[in-house]
Amino acid sequence: MPVTVVVGAQWGDEGKAKVIDLLARDHSVVARYQGGHNAGHTVVVGSEKYALQLIPSGVLYDHVTPVIGNGVVVDLPTLFSEIDRLEARGVPCSRLRVSSQAHLIFPWHQSFDALLESQRGGSKIGTTLKGIGPAYADKALRVGIRAGDVLDAAAFASVVRARAVDANADLLAAGGEPVDVDAVVDQFTVLGRRLAPYVADTVDLLHAAVEAGETVLLEGAQATFLDLDHGTYPYVTSSNPTAGGASAGSGLGPRLLDRIVGIIKAYTTRVGSGPFPTELLDAKGEALVDIGREFGTVTGRRRRTGWIDCVMLRHAVRVNSLTEIALTKLDVLDTFDDVKVCVGYRLDGRECTAYPDRSDLLARVEPVYETLPGWQTTISGCRSAADLPVAARQFVALVEKQVGVPIRIVGVGPERDAVLEWDGAPA
Ligand code: GDP
Ligand code: IMO
Ligand code: MG
Repeated sequence: MPVTVVVGAQWGDEGKAKVIDLLARDHSVVARYQGGHNAGHTVVVGSEKYALQLIPSGVLYDHVTPVIGNGVVVDLPTLFSEIDRLEARGVPCSRLRVSSQAHLIFPWHQSFDALLESQRGGSKIGTTLKGIGPAYADKALRVGIRAGDVLDAAAFASVVRARAVDANADLLAAGGEPVDVDAVVDQFTVLGRRLAPYVADTVDLLHAAVEAGETVLLEGAQATFLDLDHGTYPYVTSSNPTAGGASAGSGLGPRLLDRIVGIIKAYTTRVGSGPFPTELLDAKGEALVDIGREFGTVTGRRRRTGWIDCVMLRHAVRVNSLTEIALTKLDVLDTFDDVKVCVGYRLDGRECTAYPDRSDLLARVEPVYETLPGWQTTISGCRSAADLPVAARQFVALVEKQVGVPIRIVGVGPERDAVLEWDGAPA
């Protein structure tokens, strides 16, 4: 299995980093392929907690080469503060490689992000305000500045200056605050110099690894329903977290991607605005926030919570070609007297099993649930499927049947070893 992709199958924060950390044991290279520091990926090792935004979650292993692929948008201040924090904790980062083709985020992107959000009034997307959308917009407009541009320091300084001047004109015209051009040029001259040794042809690096028989893990950020094409547009991010994006954002062609692991939580969460059919606005929703500690790693925002939605998951299976699933945070449901699984939708009085192609339709559907008894037992100590209470096994088996793809791993706690292999057998 040379190339494995890990992709979020809901709205993010499914526990991708924990599963990547687990899979990284058997991989030589772990590469991010899209998104930027809007991601918040948490790995818990013993009493240590690592919250990563840009650096691939495989960095914690000495044998792993961490790669930031061409599809990522890179915020240099965040990258270096992350490197500094990791190295201060004894995690060396010198083997990190950043694609020369990855686009850089600049302060004006953050100014535009804030300005656009403030102008959206009551229909805010609820972005992370990290400048992700404006950086990808510049990439699409073909005016972006890329990591490889830092290799010629004089040309880099002059292109940063020119773009800063243009961006200021646009910011002023749109009613925003201009950036301090000289300060930005000075800041990025220093940052560019620091980036240079990390810059590499990562497409070549990844292919060379595959050709040498090494295993590569492509780490998705965000998730299927935040995908610019397949998500709940416009309440999405500005990249393609879906498996197709893994090819574009890494340079490994689609035929090399042979194992595509979808990460799902035992319930659903979403940060920011947009439709959410199974959202719980009651005490059960609050309980999921409290027990699941559903607060964003990046922005600290409270995540919206609801029951697991198999209509969405079936769609995620289709658009990603998922070959297997890892189900996380089953332990968060431990205290519930009953648990619900959304198996279909009702739209305008008619039942539908397909995921609607428009956000306005998704906002109108009513979920159809199957209700199962809760297990009301602590399962965080379980290390095999056979250890799970019958009701928990029934829940996992129902989700697996509904989604139609084998569940391989079940998470029962945040720690690295709080996981078990699912045996596929119903209770
Ligand atoms: P990611 O963005 O998909 O990598 O997920 P986050 O790291 O943003 O959020 C997932 C949170 O759930 C983190 O705090 C993890 O430590 C935690 N987590 C992961 N798997 C499990 C699990 O099986 N049970 C519990 N209780 N927590 C988990
Ligand atoms: P990980 O990788 C959850 C959401 C934001 C907002 C929308 C657009 O940790 O799963 P953006 O700043 O990307 O333009 O915001 O996307 N969002 C995430 N939600 N997890 C994430 O990453 C997210 N990254 C972006 O809340 O709704
Ligand atoms: Mg996250």
